[in-house]
Amino acid sequence: MSENLVKVTIDNITVEVPMGTTILQAARKVGGEVAPPAMCYYSKLEGSGGKCRTCLVEVSKGSEKDPRPMPKLVASCRTTVMDGMEVKNITSEKVLDARKGVVEFLLINHPLDCPICDQAGECHLQDLSYEHGAEGTRYEFQRRTFKKHDLGEYIQLHMTRCILCYRCVYTADQLTKTREHGVLDRGDHAEIATFIEKNLKNDFIGNVIDVCPVGALTDKTFRFKNRVWFTKPVNAHRDCDTCCGEVQLWMRGDEVFRVTARKDEWGEVKDSSKGGTGWICNTCRFDKKQASDWVVEGPAEVNRHSVISQGHYEKLVVPQETFEAVMDGRSPKLLMDIHSVSEVNKPEKSLSLLDRPAHSTDFE
Ligand code: SF4
Ligand code: FES
Repeated sequence: MSENLVKVTIDNITVEVPMGTTILQAARKVGGEVAPPAMCYYSKLEGSGGKCRTCLVEVSKGSEKDPRPMPKLVASCRTTVMDGMEVKNITSEKVLDARKGVVEFLLINHPLDCPICDQAGECHLQDLSYEHGAEGTRYEFQRRTFKKHDLGEYIQLHMTRCILCYRCVYTADQLTKTREHGVLDRGDHAEIATFIEKNLKNDFIGNVIDVCPVGALTDKTFRFKNRVWFTKPVNAHRDCDTCCGEVQLWMRGDEVFRVTARKDEWGEVKDSSKGGTGWICNTCRFDKKQASDWVVEGPAEVNRHSVISQGHYEKLVVPQETFEAVMDGRSPKLLMDIHSVSEVNKPEKSLSLLDRPAHSTDFE
């Protein structure tokens, strides 16, 4: 083992990571389900983490030198690894039970308005509830309501959906020169607000939409226009003086419905090919809504678990001829041409020759 690397075992998988790495980052190195969910931690934002408790894990062995287990579950985004540490995430009943409780708490005041929420289909809280939540709620009191705050012409705040993760506050603080919003009050009175209803006017403020794990901050230029799973995400770029200009366009046909930064497998904004984090400016995000504004690179990668992957083709898969394979290389003696007699699709169109998914206009 090199001097600055330590060994940590998470869910029975051992990895070597540099000293000072958090358990969450070490688990992300293993990848897959071993990585705990994170609703407030964001590797690109300094000081994030420690707010939501979704990343709780069990430390069953503290370190090689002091093997005692940690008495309570710990937030993996804020706890650094020690040499010889053993951690349990999905292999711990305690963790799964605690996570269920955390989800129940996060949903106490959250409205169940996924059917009309723009974040549906790409909401981390929706995914978390499906994976770890309970079917019902035990909460009998009235949910919180808020005075409406206007965040300007581009961004819509739905405070009832906010889980107070502070990501948007750190984004405004660290990416822009002016920070005009924050968390007002504390405890169950806490809320995101602009002091004296100021508009958030600066070039990079649109990034708060990308970091928000729920539908509390949404894009007014996209609001209610489409469901995200009906659109096709493609990677595109343009020459921009303000930002890296590398984005994801969410298109339907030739129409650009939404522009966002590109995201990695953890749902965080990816690094740009020009170096640094690929945050995008307001001009690219809100004003460049013509396909002609962009150089399209090709379909974006979509996690196969995501509902967005339905009907999303990253490359054309040409069906293989199967007859010979199943008949030991022999050709069939008689082959009925369903295409010409079925009257299902238009006779001049052979569905297997289309270089795109078939849609209603191809059928009779
Ligand atoms: S508005 Fe979104 S990003 Fe901001 S604190 Fe609430 S949940 Fe987090
Ligand atoms: S991600 Fe660790 S506490 Fe929120």
